[in-house]
Amino acid sequence: EKGGFEHFMLKEIYEQPNALQRTLLGRTDRTGRNIVFENLGMSNAHIRDIEKITIIACGTAYHAGLVGKQLLERLTRIPVDVDVASEFRYRHPIITDKTLVIAVSQSGETADTLAALKEGRRLGARTLAITNVVGSTIAREADDVILTMAGPEISVASTKAYATQLLVFYMLAFYFARIRSTVSTPLLETYVAELHKVPELVGQILENHGQVKQYAESLKDKSSLFFIGRGLDYSVAMEGSLKLKEISYIHSEAYAAGELKHGTLSLVEEGTSVIALSTQEDLYEKMLGNVKEVKARGAEVYGIALADNRTFAKSVDNLYLLPNTLPLLTPIIAVIPLQLIAYYVSVQRGNDVDKPRNLAKSVTVE
Ligand code: M6R
Repeated sequence: EKGGFEHFMLKEIYEQPNALQRTLLGRTDRTGRNIVFENLGMSNAHIRDIEKITIIACGTAYHAGLVGKQLLERLTRIPVDVDVASEFRYRHPIITDKTLVIAVSQSGETADTLAALKEGRRLGARTLAITNVVGSTIAREADDVILTMAGPEISVASTKAYATQLLVFYMLAFYFARIRSTVSTPLLETYVAELHKVPELVGQILENHGQVKQYAESLKDKSSLFFIGRGLDYSVAMEGSLKLKEISYIHSEAYAAGELKHGTLSLVEEGTSVIALSTQEDLYEKMLGNVKEVKARGAEVYGIALADNRTFAKSVDNLYLLPNTLPLLTPIIAVIPLQLIAYYVSVQRGNDVDKPRNLAKSVTVE
């Protein structure tokens, strides 16, 4: 059942190229250049009418929502909120009939996400579910559904569901941007063409996992770790940090790199491990500055950057190079080494990788 893999998590990590491929399938028009969602009830008029989007989710799905926010705001210029589902209901959110509430949930059964979705609808919003399970409660409750085609995810730590949720957010942002004319057609076509290459890039990373594995082994006895990044990299850092905590039981924090000096930098000392993501060209210089800050306090930095960004190599102790893609598209590929690091650290520590202590796959109580 694990298809020759030692754990479901590793199997699911390796299934990502196929899961992404399946999620893309049937979602471009005949020219292959435009994203289409044929079964969406939302008309173009509805899409043009949206004044605000609120994304609600928990855990990893929430982290996918954080990337979704940046994509949707950048490409469609619609203001987007992202809320942890258990917070949404109690903060008197501003929702109108021109709000689109997007609930993201692998299982489609998470109680907090379901309750938040119902609250969004009660307040008059149109609702859309991004879920991996056909016929799940959240899928049935929402006005519209976009399925991630990740296939069953058994491991408690979510991997392929996250990757496909990100992919859906890209497609949705491209789709809305075309209808609302907020991005030029040639640029959108470039994005769609590059998006189609992502599954293969993920495959390339999975073929060369040796370097990450070695690094993960060096983290085995750490008691704490930092993940830093800016922009999209910060959202990915949050997911990398959650994955590590969840299955390795090592404490870690994800920090917006620019925030370090506002508090957390005081925790950095000789030998502190920092994983620094730098895939956003417009932020390279800023990230270099932040890496210098932690290095000056004795941190050991593992950098993750696009193959083009060789200058980062001089500033970090160890560099992992991702295959090149557009900076906008890096989250789906940058998360892969982070998933592998979490996995290998957990294995090294002898943990029950697929069933971490105190956690359940589907959280059906609020
Ligand atoms: O099924 P859902 O996507 O609604 O689940 C949400 C979270 O419980 C889930 O992503 C959790 O954070 C994972 N165990 C993280 O790996």
